[in-house]
Amino acid sequence: MSSAVWHPFTQHGLQEPIPRVTHAEGSALYTADGRRIVDAISSWWVTTHGHCHPRIMAAIRAQTEKLDQIIFAGWTHPPAEELAERLVTLTGGRLPHVFYSDSGSTSVEVALKMALGYWLNRGEPRHRILALEHGYHGDTIGTMSVGARGVYNRAYTPLLFDVDTIPFPLGDGRNTLDALEQACRQAPAALIVEPLVLGAGGMLFYDPGILAAMRTICAHHNVLFIADEVMTGWGRTATLLACDQAGIVPDILCLSKGITGGAVPLAATLASKAIYDAHWSDDRARMFFHSSSYTANPVACAAALANLDIWRDEPVEQRIAALADRQQIQLERLPSIAHNVRRKGTIVAFEWSDGDAAYLSSLGPALLAFFRSRDVLLRPLGNTVYIMPPYCIGEEDLALIYDAIAEAAVTVGAKVP
Ligand SMILES: Cc1ncc(COP(=O)(O)O)c(C=O)c1O
Repeated sequence: MSSAVWHPFTQHGLQEPIPRVTHAEGSALYTADGRRIVDAISSWWVTTHGHCHPRIMAAIRAQTEKLDQIIFAGWTHPPAEELAERLVTLTGGRLPHVFYSDSGSTSVEVALKMALGYWLNRGEPRHRILALEHGYHGDTIGTMSVGARGVYNRAYTPLLFDVDTIPFPLGDGRNTLDALEQACRQAPAALIVEPLVLGAGGMLFYDPGILAAMRTICAHHNVLFIADEVMTGWGRTATLLACDQAGIVPDILCLSKGITGGAVPLAATLASKAIYDAHWSDDRARMFFHSSSYTANPVACAAALANLDIWRDEPVEQRIAALADRQQIQLERLPSIAHNVRRKGTIVAFEWSDGDAAYLSSLGPALLAFFRSRDVLLRPLGNTVYIMPPYCIGEEDLALIYDAIAEAAVTVGAKVP
């Protein structure tokens, strides 16, 4: 079927089929041609409690009867106010200011701009950002600049700004901590990290102790610490925030994806009092210069409030712990082709043999096509396969995912080196 749509991260020249999804429920997507697909990656890591959760859908419906959209510069509305108050409690009140935007990328752009604004407004301008090797923070120019460089941003390299990259932790993380200590002596503005799990960089895990030590080094050198919890937030790594496992609170926290349970776009960047205060003045030139049209959209804020209600009223933590255990059991069924098998919270990842790890290796599309033929939505990152289902996934659907992987090891594994 011909289409006017230009899809993200899709090479249309390969003419691969693009399934048309008409509706969804829980962990299942339903296509126009009558298939039921298991969503094994939570629709790009956003769907936490399951698709079309009745409470979130009801909250959206109710809000659309009251207020659809309102300019947020100098105006406000009840869902945004209540949501901000409740988000602040997630960090025990230590990040008391909430700035809304509408995607993971914008939440990070906002974080970077806040960090630079903080230093400028204090009269000590700092321009350098430290970033963790293999990081991914989005696809805008600023977020690509602080993320890993590769084929996916090669065309835009001339526009990207330089950052200092801290090596990804190996073993006890001494390599990272030593490099960070060194880099902090140059008085950079901030360090940005994905806490505990580097997602698009290949589902790379590191320990909470290393995250805590990074936080300590930054605090010691007065370098702002930005935690990008766009992927790790909302229970993915077992706790609501990955930072909770390290017992840390960053200076700036980026939230998106699961903030609405994955139903509609919204993002929030939480900031410390010091960062807010650095912008607080009777001088308009010191205000925080950032906005987008849909900042704090009321319908999205209502969805996020319903998400928080679900966290408050339902046994979400137990559900996550149970899914983590069930994933652990399924690991035993992984074929021998699975290397470096690892699990953090609800996320399982492994490398498909020890073959070509490049993002554009031929293995990715071959696996993608195979999983699609088995009615499973899995989207490997190069030769890294990961399973990150919604927390509501049932036993049968989880088994279907691992069945498809086992079958792929025989069918695809034999063909691709
Ligand atoms: C850690 C992290 N930060 C930022 C982003 C960008 O989010 P978005 O795609 O909503 O712009 C992503 C997306 O996967 C992410 O994983």
